[in-house]
Amino acid sequence: MAQRIFINEVAPRDGLQIEARFVPTPDKIALIDALSRTGVAKIEATSFTSPKAIPNLADAGDVMAGITRHEDVDYVALVPNERGAERALAAGVDELNLVLSASDSHGLANLRMTPWQSLARFEHMIALARGSNVSINASISTTFGCPFEGDVPASRILEIVRALAALGVDGITLCDTTGMANPQQVSALCKDVIKRHPELLLTLHVHDTRGMGLANALAAWQAGIIRFDAALGGLGGCPFAPGASGNVCSEDLVHMFETMGLDTGVDLDALLAVAETLPALVGHEVPGQVVKAGRSSRRYPLPAHVARG
Ligand code: COA
Ligand code: ZN
Repeated sequence: MAQRIFINEVAPRDGLQIEARFVPTPDKIALIDALSRTGVAKIEATSFTSPKAIPNLADAGDVMAGITRHEDVDYVALVPNERGAERALAAGVDELNLVLSASDSHGLANLRMTPWQSLARFEHMIALARGSNVSINASISTTFGCPFEGDVPASRILEIVRALAALGVDGITLCDTTGMANPQQVSALCKDVIKRHPELLLTLHVHDTRGMGLANALAAWQAGIIRFDAALGGLGGCPFAPGASGNVCSEDLVHMFETMGLDTGVDLDALLAVAETLPALVGHEVPGQVVKAGRSSRRYPLPAHVARG
């Protein structure tokens, strides 16, 4: 049987948070409902953040209340603090994605918290979810580099991962917030974290800011990672990370893994059909490649002079 890959579709959150215009709530709901029918394992539907920080997702509660839940999909919300966790739990999310930054500078710019300040709040946030079936993931932004500070030492990431594991999180996402990672770095860190924490469900979250998104995802898979965040059309980016641009594109990632004989659980045609609706939704072209080129199995008629023989 083909090896299984799990896709967490983050366009509704990472994608829409940075768009120049607010996508109306009914359109967000329609997007999430369409994505729910494509076979993705999870959808990061929104974030419960300060509406002043992320005005595009100020309608998080209404979005969660409006979507039609698919039984095979886990609906995730990103939360930075206790208030976010309370709101997300009240909205009935399946998973809380606690966010912190690996670097002090990005943490302060994005969340007004250093990683250690975030970690100090997570214990209470996790306690809020205790007794429910809600799973807990933590996303570590700037894991592979910080747009303000540059290199983030692997030892710092391992220290944060250790602290999160001690808090009892179910999973951790290593995030390359502004596309600074390279495949060798991704491979080495993923192998190290898997070796030290085989109990954790690890996910890779990469941005294609410098064209290394798919290469980094492939390197992570070769290192043993089978869970990936990706955004439809390659939307995405953190508004508080200068130079941020789109996530690795979901349909391109699914296409790559499927052509390699892996099972993503995703109906690629269904996903491509949703991707085709994106430019009208966001009002601009999007970076995805396969939606423009077609699958690699696409064939063209021979030119007439060849066909004639
Ligand atoms: N949901 C709704 N409102 C919230 C909130 C939440 N989770 N957290 C804080 N607020 C509100 C407070 O009620 C307060 O409102 P007021 O000004 O009307 O009184 C205001 O936001 C400021 O609250 P405070 O606790 O002082 O937060 P802050 O200004 O220090 O900002 C964060 C910290 C974490 C709330 C904010 O930086 C944030 O939401 N960041 C998210 C960034 C993000 O999602 N980036 C992209 C993903 S990586
Ligand atoms: Zn991101």
